[in-house]
Amino acid sequence: MEATDCSPYIRPQRSMEPSVYLDADLFGLEQRRVLSSTWQYGCHASDLDGPGSYVTFEIAGESLFAVRDPEGTIRTFYNVCMHRGHRLLDGAGVRPKLVCPYHLWTYRLDGRLDHAPHAQGRPGFDPGGICLTEVLTEDLWGFLFVNLDGDARPMEVTYPGVREALYEFLPSIERMRPLERRWFTAESNWKVAVENYNECYHCRSAHPSFSKGVVLPETYTIRPVGQSLQHRAESSPDQYYEIDYQASPHAADYRSFYLWPLFSFQVYPGPVLNTFCWRPASVDRTPFFREWFSLDGEDSPTVRRVADEDARTTVAEDLALMRSVQGGLSSRGYRPGPLVIDPDMGLNSEHTVAAIKAWYQEAMGPAVQ
Ligand code: FES
Ligand SMILES: [Fe+2]
Repeated sequence: MEATDCSPYIRPQRSMEPSVYLDADLFGLEQRRVLSSTWQYGCHASDLDGPGSYVTFEIAGESLFAVRDPEGTIRTFYNVCMHRGHRLLDGAGVRPKLVCPYHLWTYRLDGRLDHAPHAQGRPGFDPGGICLTEVLTEDLWGFLFVNLDGDARPMEVTYPGVREALYEFLPSIERMRPLERRWFTAESNWKVAVENYNECYHCRSAHPSFSKGVVLPETYTIRPVGQSLQHRAESSPDQYYEIDYQASPHAADYRSFYLWPLFSFQVYPGPVLNTFCWRPASVDRTPFFREWFSLDGEDSPTVRRVADEDARTTVAEDLALMRSVQGGLSSRGYRPGPLVIDPDMGLNSEHTVAAIKAWYQEAMGPAVQ
């Protein structure tokens, strides 16, 4: 794997202009230029545990669903009937075939039209050519990602080596199953949220529990690799929960793999696997969910305790920070300040905010230069 050239992220620069966090028209453009052409998390393969099981979700304003066929193949489709556009499915469930509620057009689990009532032999009706519109889907150790751009580069090109790095860090990742999902809402633009997630310059001032009871701040580094940001740290000697040192060679380490733009794998010492998935709703509102995993989905008091503590401390603290920043960005008195850059990419560095700025400007083109 070629080393990522980090020089663009460690040269002196300022944070982005406030308008990119405030302009509702720009948010519409982002749906097309950023969110519709990047890899987005859909659902976990274990959410689809048998033939015909499906899960719906929304990406970049589009309703989609993933469904498993009898051979075990999982596909993702736009959640729209090819007749006159009714929504096909809601929520999650199991169906032997996919039936549109409007006129009962029926599709097979591979998306091909199976039956359209009273249409056979009618002029212009050719069932052979009718199929739901499929979406590019990749499986990363059971985590299903989709990309609305049919010509998108594979995840391995965008996030080189992340598949292997995840497995090397957490060899049990394929056995990890969701234990619980918790929703929160950041009252901020999504870029405020992911910038905040990806710098730990604020960790000591804002996150006493994380800095004392989870990681050793002085060991914290974040490396850009492709369009991922890889955080690593050693665990705190004052860990507030039990660690099973036999469970994994990296049981005592913290690691996070942020995948531009809206997802992150995070492994707390333990190992306790959890994820962030941001789903921007408007220019200043970003719902997101934190999902918590355990081996084979077994109940785990440790995972639940860490999830509680995380929501009560780090997440609550970040929500307040993001709300304040969003308010401040609309102040007439604000001028974008310089990013604090440490070429060693340690704890007190915002080179990651520079990386996000570079990826954002590249995707948006002249609209934000
Ligand atoms: S719109 Fe779906 S069957 Fe008519
Ligand atoms: Fe934070």
